[in-house]
Amino acid sequence: MKRFRTCVIGVGFIGAAHIEALRRLGNVDVVAVADVPNAAAKAEAHCVPRGYDDYREMIDTEKPDVVHICTPNASHYEMAMYAMERGIAVVCEKPLTKTLEEARALAAYAKEHNIITGVNFNCRWYPQVMQAKAMVDSGEVGDIYTVHGGYLQDWLYYDTDYSWRLEPEVSGDSRAFADIGSHWIDMVESVTGLRAVEVLADFETFHKTRKKPLKPVDTYSGMALRPEDYAEIPIHTEDYCTVLFRFDNGAHGACTISQVFAGRKNQILMDIGGSRCALHWDSEDSNELWIGRRDAFNQKAPKDPSILSGLAAASISYPGGHVEGFPDTFKQNFKAIYAAIEQGDSGKGIFANFDDGLREMVLCDAVVRSARERRWIKIDG
Ligand SMILES: NC(=O)c1ccc[n+]([C@@H]2O[C@H](COP(=O)([O-])OP(=O)(O)OC[C@H]3O[C@@H](n4cnc5c(N)ncnc54)[C@H](O)[C@@H]3O)[C@@H](O)[C@H]2O)c1
Repeated sequence: MKRFRTCVIGVGFIGAAHIEALRRLGNVDVVAVADVPNAAAKAEAHCVPRGYDDYREMIDTEKPDVVHICTPNASHYEMAMYAMERGIAVVCEKPLTKTLEEARALAAYAKEHNIITGVNFNCRWYPQVMQAKAMVDSGEVGDIYTVHGGYLQDWLYYDTDYSWRLEPEVSGDSRAFADIGSHWIDMVESVTGLRAVEVLADFETFHKTRKKPLKPVDTYSGMALRPEDYAEIPIHTEDYCTVLFRFDNGAHGACTISQVFAGRKNQILMDIGGSRCALHWDSEDSNELWIGRRDAFNQKAPKDPSILSGLAAASISYPGGHVEGFPDTFKQNFKAIYAAIEQGDSGKGIFANFDDGLREMVLCDAVVRSARERRWIKIDG
């Protein structure tokens, strides 16, 4: 098995999760991190040998096999391009870029130069989500009539909650859909094999202004600041959206995405209505998959590799009864991406690559246009 030298750019909430998951693979050395400011302190805090303030200097000095990009969305494009221009494989956080044009350029470059890429659409990697995919693939679910569900959080519930995600110049034109709706639609298209062909979106921004802290805070830090520490700023991206979908097989879908839904910290729901059975999965009870039947008992399939499909079993590290969750999805995604890198396989794997990152940006662009123009929008490409 090849031993990899990996660099991580951005060590906030998710960069730390990448480092932890990479170490669990066993064949990856995280040799350096880049962050601003104070990369050296971040490196030390995560027991990484070296820290760089400039990601370019890190890449040119360390010459890693793989670069992980875990910074706010606006910097993904330039960082991914810099690494790919040096022939280095890239694993990028979602959404792939801030703009659709940037995503098109990255996907085209990766394809033209045969660079292996991954996007961390980790929700695909919950074992019971893989089980749902295996059941759809095998025909057990039948023809799909409907898909519904959503993604709910409450970390932006108060107008005092603040993050770079609220600033379109850093995050992009969409917030709730790009940030978490992107996970939902990536998971749904991956599980069902269907492609959304048309969308109708309704957006709302409940907090028209928010109180921006006058000094930086880490995502989800929940830090309490005094009123005099804030500046009141207008908000132009959605706290909430509902999106209707039409899929290429004639199926219909709907999702509700909210970052201001009290009490739901990080709940993803997926319901698939098929002609043979229905499936329901809830990330807050992620080790079970509900199977609904008209003429027989309903079932709950537990996360147990000895009784699930081969596809699901391959994404499980522990026996039945031993709960796996969010951090394990990172490990399984990276395991698949690194196996592809080792084999030099830039073909379409089960993990999301830059083509899938582009696909989600195309959908996001259509969702934003639909909300603005208040009409159905056909998906191009
Ligand atoms: N897959 C998931 O489940 C998931 C979850 C959370 C975030 N994300 C994605 O991960 C990315 C980062 O989100 P986060 O929540 O970790 O944000 P964060 O604010 O917690 O961390 C971002 C880090 O990047 C650093 N940074 C910013 N600019 C930099 C630069 N030019 N060079 C080096 N470092 C820089 C910051 O100092 C910070 O440490 C976003 O694209 C987000 O959408 C994905």
